[in-house]
Amino acid sequence: MSMNQSAQSMYTDRLARLVQLSRDRHVFSFTRFDWVDDISEQDWWVSPELLTIHGTAYYEQASEAQRKLLSKWECINLFSLNVTGEQELIAGVAELLHTPMLKEANDYLHHFIDEENQHMWYFAKFCENYAGKIYGNKKIQLTELKLDPRLTILVRFAQIFIFEEVGHYYNLKIALDERVHPFIREINEAHRNDESRHITFGRALLARLADGISNDYAPEVLEKVSQHLRKYVQVTIESLYNPAMYRDAGFASGMAIRSALLADPARQDFHARELLKKVLALLGDTHLLKQETSLEPAYQS
Ligand SMILES: [Fe+2]
Ligand SMILES: [Fe+2]
Repeated sequence: MSMNQSAQSMYTDRLARLVQLSRDRHVFSFTRFDWVDDISEQDWWVSPELLTIHGTAYYEQASEAQRKLLSKWECINLFSLNVTGEQELIAGVAELLHTPMLKEANDYLHHFIDEENQHMWYFAKFCENYAGKIYGNKKIQLTELKLDPRLTILVRFAQIFIFEEVGHYYNLKIALDERVHPFIREINEAHRNDESRHITFGRALLARLADGISNDYAPEVLEKVSQHLRKYVQVTIESLYNPAMYRDAGFASGMAIRSALLADPARQDFHARELLKKVLALLGDTHLLKQETSLEPAYQS
């Protein structure tokens, strides 16, 4: 791997700083929250503008009460996705501990796992307490890529990065929204705090490992990686449109709404220009994702 001295020392400095921040800002989530008894269905659980029906006819036709009820189930879906995603993330990162290629990141990876373990605990508790369930995440198995260790690590962290950036978008907006129930804002704020470090780490790690990949790999190999990550982005987007949450909110057909929304230009526009803007730009910069003039085709199933 080609890497000059100054880029290398910037990378190790950044990691040392992140380790320091994780220690300074360490919280013990298991006792930090005052868990409220319950949260009313007349409250906003996520901002109305963040609802998956926003910008479509479903939103226009829904009453305020229906929108609020859907906001509850969309919140439970987002938190459930965190639970299942973090579980997978912890397993994936734990497997890579002590890998020579991640030697400099090893200390930080321990904090990463520690923090995700706490998140997974409070998101699961929230879902159980206030909704009595955690939504299962039907994982679409992406075909296993046969890659060398460097690309395997890159793909794994690129997936983590996609997952975290999408979650971060919601955490940030909800934490700042005064219409949302204060306890839900607090949870989003707590998560946002830790996640901003994870995202900084993800950016640094991806830039470090991806440096020079255009020279080091054949175009066909990189094309395969790019296609895989594009699929992963699509699966991540689709997971936001869980049919079960529409059913729980009293809509007639969850599956039909999901399909209609995924095909809706207003929603596709929101994904491309808003939700995925940063993540696609970074993956493009690292040459992990091929830049495309138009993003829309990726979302047509
Ligand atoms: Fe997390
Ligand atoms: Fe994270």
